[in-house]
Amino acid sequence: MFCSSYYHISLTLHFLYWKASIISDLKTVYITRRETFNAAHKLWNEMWSAEKNEEVFGRCSNHNWHGHNFTLYVTVKGIPNPDTGFVINLKDLSQIVKDEIVEVLDHKNLNLDVPFLKDILPSTENMVICIWDRLVEPIRSSGGEIAKIKLVETENNYVEYWGDGEPF
Ligand code: NI
Repeated sequence: MFCSSYYHISLTLHFLYWKASIISDLKTVYITRRETFNAAHKLWNEMWSAEKNEEVFGRCSNHNWHGHNFTLYVTVKGIPNPDTGFVINLKDLSQIVKDEIVEVLDHKNLNLDVPFLKDILPSTENMVICIWDRLVEPIRSSGGEIAKIKLVETENNYVEYWGDGEPF
């Protein structure tokens, strides 16, 4: 009786392990870490007159800057590791985003204070491209593959970027 029941449990465990392995082997999963920062900027094209800047950028061209509470979503894709079930350790991903992005942008003037945005017009569109470029390698070094950046500027406006890949 004992042997039979042990055999049954053992078979069940083997089946579950096999099933988990198969699932991990085949399924790509997308996981996302959210971080926040706030920063000031001004949308201004130096090649244009003040009138044209005001016409195109409106209140965003305000000479003495304006600010936003940004929310950044960084999505990494991969197959769950069979030992951990993780695509990437979210603690590691959070630390990368904090080190590379939040620490550099938070409470800063995006036009003046941020080396990796130098000479870039800091629209949300341009920011997601620069943020992507800055995160690719550190995330790869942690075993992940960056899949998407989403940057929320206001509750009504956000921008998404998938690198040069197609949206999934
Ligand atoms: Ni703005």
